[in-house]
Amino acid sequence: MTVLVFDSGIGGLTVLREARVLMPANRFVYVADDAAFPYGNWEEKPLLDHMTALFGRLIGEWQPSVIIIACNTASTLAIDHLRQVYPQQVFVGTVPAIKPAAERTRSGLVSVLATPGTVKRQYTRDLISSYASKCHVRLVGSRNLAQLAETYMREGFVDEDAVRAEIEPCFIEKDGRHTDIVVLACTHYPFLVNRMRKTAPWPVDWIDTSEAIARRALSLMPVMHDDALVPDEPDLAIFTSENPDPHVVRLMRGFGLSVE
Ligand code: DGL
Repeated sequence: MTVLVFDSGIGGLTVLREARVLMPANRFVYVADDAAFPYGNWEEKPLLDHMTALFGRLIGEWQPSVIIIACNTASTLAIDHLRQVYPQQVFVGTVPAIKPAAERTRSGLVSVLATPGTVKRQYTRDLISSYASKCHVRLVGSRNLAQLAETYMREGFVDEDAVRAEIEPCFIEKDGRHTDIVVLACTHYPFLVNRMRKTAPWPVDWIDTSEAIARRALSLMPVMHDDALVPDEPDLAIFTSENPDPHVVRLMRGFGLSVE
Protein backbone atom coordinates (compact mmCIF):
# COMPACT_ATOMS: atom_id res chain seq x y z
CA MET A 1 0.00 0.00 0.00
CA THR A 2 1.11 3.52 -0.68
CA VAL A 3 1.53 6.12 2.03
CA LEU A 4 1.91 9.65 0.75
CA VAL A 5 3.78 11.99 3.10
CA PHE A 6 3.40 15.65 2.28
CA ASP A 7 5.16 18.84 3.33
CA SER A 8 6.16 22.16 1.81
CA GLY A 9 9.81 21.16 2.10
CA ILE A 10 12.01 18.73 3.98
CA GLY A 11 10.26 19.04 7.37
CA GLY A 12 7.99 16.07 6.72
CA LEU A 13 11.04 13.81 6.76
CA THR A 14 10.85 13.98 10.57
CA VAL A 15 7.48 12.23 10.29
CA LEU A 16 8.49 9.96 7.41
CA ARG A 17 11.35 8.42 9.40
CA GLU A 18 8.96 7.47 12.23
CA ALA A 19 6.29 6.20 9.84
CA ARG A 20 8.74 3.92 8.09
CA VAL A 21 9.75 2.34 11.37
CA LEU A 22 6.12 1.61 12.20
CA MET A 23 4.94 0.61 8.70
CA PRO A 24 7.93 -0.92 6.93
CA ALA A 25 5.86 -3.04 4.56
CA ASN A 26 4.44 -0.05 2.70
CA ARG A 27 5.60 2.11 -0.12
CA PHE A 28 6.28 5.73 0.79
CA VAL A 29 5.96 8.62 -1.61
CA TYR A 30 7.28 11.85 -0.16
CA VAL A 31 5.98 15.02 -1.78
CA ALA A 32 7.67 18.36 -1.11
CA ASP A 33 5.79 21.36 -2.46
CA ASP A 34 9.07 23.23 -2.69
CA ALA A 35 7.81 25.42 -5.53
CA ALA A 36 5.53 27.02 -2.94
CA PHE A 37 7.87 26.98 0.10
CA PRO A 38 7.54 28.51 2.67
CA TYR A 39 3.85 27.88 3.37
CA GLY A 40 4.15 29.89 6.59
CA ASN A 41 4.19 33.18 4.73
CA TRP A 42 1.18 32.54 2.43
CA GLU A 43 -2.24 34.16 2.83
CA GLU A 44 -4.92 31.59 3.71
CA LYS A 45 -7.24 31.69 0.69
CA PRO A 46 -4.63 31.34 -2.05
CA LEU A 47 -2.87 28.59 -0.09
CA LEU A 48 -6.13 26.68 0.40
CA ASP A 49 -6.94 26.89 -3.32
CA HIS A 50 -3.42 25.87 -4.22
CA MET A 51 -3.47 22.84 -1.90
CA THR A 52 -6.92 21.71 -2.97
CA ALA A 53 -5.85 21.57 -6.61
CA LEU A 54 -2.51 19.95 -5.81
CA PHE A 55 -4.09 17.20 -3.68
CA GLY A 56 -6.57 16.47 -6.45
CA ARG A 57 -3.63 15.73 -8.74
CA LEU A 58 -1.68 13.74 -6.13
CA ILE A 59 -4.65 11.56 -5.22
CA GLY A 60 -5.35 10.88 -8.90
CA GLU A 61 -1.77 9.95 -9.61
CA TRP A 62 -0.81 7.90 -6.52
CA GLN A 63 -4.11 6.65 -5.09
CA PRO A 64 -2.57 6.48 -1.64
CA SER A 65 -4.14 4.40 1.15
CA VAL A 66 -3.30 7.20 3.56
CA ILE A 67 -2.05 10.76 3.14
CA ILE A 68 -0.03 12.18 6.02
CA ILE A 69 0.02 15.95 5.86
CA ALA A 70 3.30 16.32 7.71
CA CYS A 71 3.01 20.07 7.96
CA ASN A 72 1.27 22.07 10.68
CA THR A 73 0.89 25.14 8.47
CA ALA A 74 -0.96 23.11 5.85
CA SER A 75 -2.99 20.93 8.24
CA THR A 76 -4.32 23.75 10.42
CA LEU A 77 -5.55 25.49 7.28
CA ALA A 78 -6.74 22.74 5.02
CA ILE A 79 -7.33 19.38 6.68
CA ASP A 80 -11.08 19.83 7.28
CA HIS A 81 -11.58 21.25 3.80
CA LEU A 82 -9.60 18.47 2.11
CA ARG A 83 -11.61 15.82 3.97
CA GLN A 84 -14.79 17.42 2.64
CA VAL A 85 -13.56 17.75 -0.93
CA TYR A 86 -11.99 14.26 -1.05
CA PRO A 87 -14.26 12.24 1.28
CA GLN A 88 -13.01 8.86 0.05
CA GLN A 89 -9.44 9.69 1.04
CA VAL A 90 -7.91 9.02 4.48
CA PHE A 91 -5.95 12.03 5.76
CA VAL A 92 -3.77 12.27 8.84
CA GLY A 93 -3.00 15.83 9.87
CA THR A 94 -0.26 17.37 11.99
CA VAL A 95 -1.49 20.02 14.38
CA PRO A 96 0.16 21.78 17.33
CA ALA A 97 0.47 19.50 20.39
CA ILE A 98 -1.31 21.92 22.69
CA LYS A 99 -3.30 19.29 24.60
CA PRO A 100 -0.28 17.21 25.70
CA ALA A 101 1.60 20.40 26.56
CA ALA A 102 -1.24 21.59 28.79
CA GLU A 103 -1.38 18.20 30.49
CA ARG A 104 2.36 18.13 31.12
CA THR A 105 3.25 21.68 32.15
CA ARG A 106 3.99 22.30 35.81
CA SER A 107 4.54 26.04 35.67
CA GLY A 108 1.44 26.65 33.52
CA LEU A 109 3.57 28.58 31.02
CA VAL A 110 3.64 26.95 27.60
CA SER A 111 4.95 28.29 24.29
CA VAL A 112 3.98 27.17 20.82
CA LEU A 113 6.75 27.70 18.28
CA ALA A 114 5.36 27.66 14.73
CA THR A 115 5.28 29.46 11.42
CA PRO A 116 3.45 32.80 11.20
CA GLY A 117 0.68 30.95 9.30
CA THR A 118 0.06 28.36 12.03
CA VAL A 119 0.07 31.03 14.73
CA LYS A 120 -2.65 32.98 12.89
CA ARG A 121 -5.00 30.05 12.36
CA GLN A 122 -8.39 29.79 14.01
CA TYR A 123 -7.67 26.05 14.32
CA THR A 124 -4.72 26.81 16.63
CA ARG A 125 -6.77 29.28 18.71
CA ASP A 126 -9.53 26.69 19.05
CA LEU A 127 -7.04 24.09 20.32
CA ILE A 128 -5.94 26.54 23.00
CA SER A 129 -9.45 27.37 24.16
CA SER A 130 -10.50 23.69 24.14
CA TYR A 131 -7.48 22.21 25.91
CA ALA A 132 -5.31 24.86 27.50
CA SER A 133 -7.64 27.47 28.93
CA LYS A 134 -5.98 27.10 32.34
CA CYS A 135 -2.48 27.74 30.96
CA HIS A 136 -0.76 30.81 29.73
CA VAL A 137 0.01 29.92 26.12
CA ARG A 138 2.37 32.13 24.16
CA LEU A 139 2.21 31.77 20.38
CA VAL A 140 5.53 32.48 18.73
CA GLY A 141 5.46 32.82 14.95
CA SER A 142 8.93 32.42 13.50
CA ARG A 143 9.65 33.78 10.05
CA ASN A 144 13.04 32.15 9.65
CA LEU A 145 13.31 28.85 11.50
CA ALA A 146 11.90 26.61 8.75
CA GLN A 147 14.41 28.08 6.32
CA LEU A 148 17.21 27.70 8.88
CA ALA A 149 16.28 24.02 9.21
CA GLU A 150 16.32 23.62 5.41
CA THR A 151 19.77 25.20 5.23
CA TYR A 152 21.05 23.11 8.12
CA MET A 153 19.88 19.87 6.52
CA ARG A 154 21.39 20.84 3.16
CA GLU A 155 24.65 22.32 4.27
CA GLY A 156 25.21 20.90 7.75
CA PHE A 157 25.62 24.37 9.19
CA VAL A 158 23.34 26.69 11.08
CA ASP A 159 23.93 30.11 12.59
CA GLU A 160 23.34 29.52 16.30
CA ASP A 161 22.76 33.19 17.04
CA ALA A 162 19.95 33.17 14.48
CA VAL A 163 18.38 30.12 16.17
CA ARG A 164 18.73 31.80 19.57
CA ALA A 165 16.99 34.92 18.30
CA GLU A 166 14.07 32.93 16.84
CA ILE A 167 13.39 30.89 19.98
CA GLU A 168 14.04 33.67 22.49
CA PRO A 169 10.40 34.95 22.63
CA CYS A 170 9.31 31.46 23.78
CA PHE A 171 10.93 31.95 27.16
CA ILE A 172 8.95 33.92 29.67
CA GLU A 173 9.13 34.43 33.38
CA LYS A 174 6.06 35.41 35.34
CA ASP A 175 5.66 35.70 39.09
CA GLY A 176 8.72 33.52 39.65
CA ARG A 177 7.48 30.84 37.21
CA HIS A 178 9.20 29.97 33.96
CA THR A 179 8.10 28.49 30.64
CA ASP A 180 8.69 24.75 30.95
CA ILE A 181 7.29 23.42 27.63
CA VAL A 182 7.89 24.50 24.05
CA VAL A 183 5.70 22.82 21.43
CA LEU A 184 7.54 22.31 18.14
CA ALA A 185 4.56 23.10 15.94
CA CYS A 186 6.36 22.89 12.61
CA THR A 187 7.76 19.64 11.27
CA HIS A 188 11.01 21.33 10.25
CA TYR A 189 11.92 22.22 13.82
CA PRO A 190 12.88 18.80 15.27
CA PHE A 191 15.91 18.90 12.96
CA LEU A 192 17.16 21.90 14.95
CA VAL A 193 16.21 20.75 18.43
CA ASN A 194 19.77 20.17 19.58
CA ARG A 195 20.69 23.71 18.62
CA MET A 196 17.58 24.98 20.36
CA ARG A 197 18.57 23.10 23.52
CA LYS A 198 22.03 24.58 23.32
CA THR A 199 20.90 28.17 22.83
CA ALA A 200 17.86 28.13 25.18
CA PRO A 201 18.13 30.37 28.26
CA TRP A 202 16.95 27.48 30.49
CA PRO A 203 16.01 23.82 29.97
CA VAL A 204 12.46 23.03 28.83
CA ASP A 205 10.65 20.02 27.35
CA TRP A 206 10.46 20.31 23.57
CA ILE A 207 7.36 18.51 22.31
CA ASP A 208 7.80 16.81 18.95
CA THR A 209 4.75 14.99 17.57
CA SER A 210 6.40 13.02 14.75
CA GLU A 211 6.01 9.64 16.39
CA ALA A 212 2.43 10.31 17.47
CA ILE A 213 1.52 11.26 13.88
CA ALA A 214 3.08 8.05 12.58
CA ARG A 215 1.11 6.01 15.14
CA ARG A 216 -2.10 7.71 14.09
CA ALA A 217 -1.37 6.88 10.45
CA LEU A 218 -0.68 3.25 11.36
CA SER A 219 -4.01 3.04 13.17
CA LEU A 220 -5.82 4.24 10.03
CA MET A 221 -4.10 1.94 7.54
CA PRO A 222 -6.38 -0.62 5.94
CA VAL A 223 -5.70 -4.09 7.37
CA MET A 224 -3.05 -5.97 5.38
CA HIS A 225 -3.29 -9.69 5.06
CA ASP A 226 -0.30 -11.89 5.89
CA ASP A 227 0.06 -12.89 2.28
CA ALA A 228 0.15 -9.28 1.03
CA LEU A 229 3.30 -8.67 -0.94
CA VAL A 230 5.87 -6.21 0.23
CA PRO A 231 5.97 -3.72 -2.67
CA ASP A 232 9.13 -3.77 -4.68
CA GLU A 233 8.85 -0.25 -6.06
CA PRO A 234 11.30 2.10 -4.40
CA ASP A 235 10.23 4.81 -2.01
CA LEU A 236 10.15 8.09 -3.87
CA ALA A 237 10.63 11.79 -3.33
CA ILE A 238 8.81 14.22 -5.59
CA PHE A 239 9.41 17.96 -5.79
CA THR A 240 6.81 20.29 -7.25
CA SER A 241 9.60 22.56 -8.52
CA GLU A 242 10.85 19.54 -10.51
CA ASN A 243 14.28 20.97 -9.81
CA PRO A 244 15.54 20.25 -6.28
CA ASP A 245 19.06 21.36 -5.51
CA PRO A 246 21.77 18.68 -5.40
CA HIS A 247 22.10 18.88 -1.60
CA VAL A 248 18.44 18.09 -1.23
CA VAL A 249 18.69 15.21 -3.66
CA ARG A 250 21.57 13.83 -1.60
CA LEU A 251 19.56 14.28 1.59
CA MET A 252 16.62 12.38 0.11
CA ARG A 253 18.87 9.56 -1.01
CA GLY A 254 20.29 9.48 2.51
CA PHE A 255 16.73 8.82 3.68
CA GLY A 256 16.52 5.96 1.17
CA LEU A 257 14.25 7.82 -1.27
CA SER A 258 14.73 7.81 -5.04
CA VAL A 259 14.29 11.25 -6.53
CA GLU A 260 11.96 11.53 -9.52
N1 DGL B 1 6.91 22.16 7.81
C1 DGL B 1 5.89 23.19 7.83
C2 DGL B 1 5.07 23.06 9.13
O1 DGL B 1 5.04 22.01 9.76
C3 DGL B 1 6.29 24.63 7.69
C4 DGL B 1 7.27 25.10 6.69
C5 DGL B 1 6.77 26.23 5.79
O2 DGL B 1 6.62 27.39 6.25
O3 DGL B 1 6.51 25.94 4.64
O4 DGL B 1 4.40 23.97 9.52
